[in-house]
Amino acid sequence: MNFTLSIWRQSPGVPGKMVEYKVSDISAETSLLETLDMLNEELTLKGEEPVAFDSDCREGICGACSLVVDGRAHGPGKLTTSCQIFMRSFTDGQTIHLEPYRSAALPVVKDLVVDRTAFDRIIQSGGFISAHSGPKPEPNSMPIGYDELEESMDAAACIGCAACVAACPNGSAMLFTAAKIGHLGLLPQGQPERDQRAREMVAKMDEEGFGACTNYAECQDACPKGVSIKFIGRMNKDFAKAMLCAEDDRRGSMDVN
Ligand code: FES
Repeated sequence: MNFTLSIWRQSPGVPGKMVEYKVSDISAETSLLETLDMLNEELTLKGEEPVAFDSDCREGICGACSLVVDGRAHGPGKLTTSCQIFMRSFTDGQTIHLEPYRSAALPVVKDLVVDRTAFDRIIQSGGFISAHSGPKPEPNSMPIGYDELEESMDAAACIGCAACVAACPNGSAMLFTAAKIGHLGLLPQGQPERDQRAREMVAKMDEEGFGACTNYAECQDACPKGVSIKFIGRMNKDFAKAMLCAEDDRRGSMDVN
C-alpha cells in the first residue's frame, strides 16, 4: 500500500506546519507507528530530522502514543490507541493527516509530542491513598461489594493518554480527573482522603488551564478504554460535598473562636 503522510512538524519555539511525505510498499498489517518508524529511517538516511512522536508499550496499555489521526484523537476505530491502528484501516493511496493533541494545557514539545505533565501534577495533588501497602492483609478483612469493585475497575482503566482533552471542544480534563477520583473514591481504602482528593484535584485541574465539561461527551467517545462520563457526575457530587463540608468546618471553627 502507498500513502501520503501529512505530518505536523514543529521545532521548539518555532511555528509549526504540515509537511507531506510519501511512503510506499507498506504492508496492510503494518501499524501506523511502524510506518512512522520506516519514514524516520528514510529521513535519517537522507540526513533529515526524523519525526518526533511518543510511544512506549505499543500494546494499548501505557497511553504514551497520543496522535490526532485525520482529525480524531487516536484515529479511526473505537476503543483503540494510536499504536493499535494498522494500515489496513486506511485506503490505498490515501493522505493521512497526523497532528499532535491540541490544547493550551498540553503544549507541543516537538512535532507530534505534547507535554502531558499537567496530568502528573493533577495526580500529585491528590490521586493517592495513605493506607500503607504491606504486609498483604487477609482478603476478607475488607469486604468490597461486587458492583463497587467493578465500577472502580472501570474508572481505573483510564491510561491517562489525554485523548479526552484532545477530543473536547473545551479542552476539558474532567474525564481523566473524574476517573482518577472515582477509582479511589469507590474503594474503602480511598475514603480517608476522599473529600480532600476531590477538592485538590479539581482545583489543580482548573489551575492547569483545562476547560470545564459542558456535556458534549466527545471525551467518552474518544476514550480508548471506554471510561464513561458518569464518573464526571460522580466527581461533581464528591466535589460539591467536599466544598460544603469544608465550609461547615470553617463556620464551626469560627463559632469555637
Ligand atoms: S504506546 Fe502504549 S498505549 Fe500506545
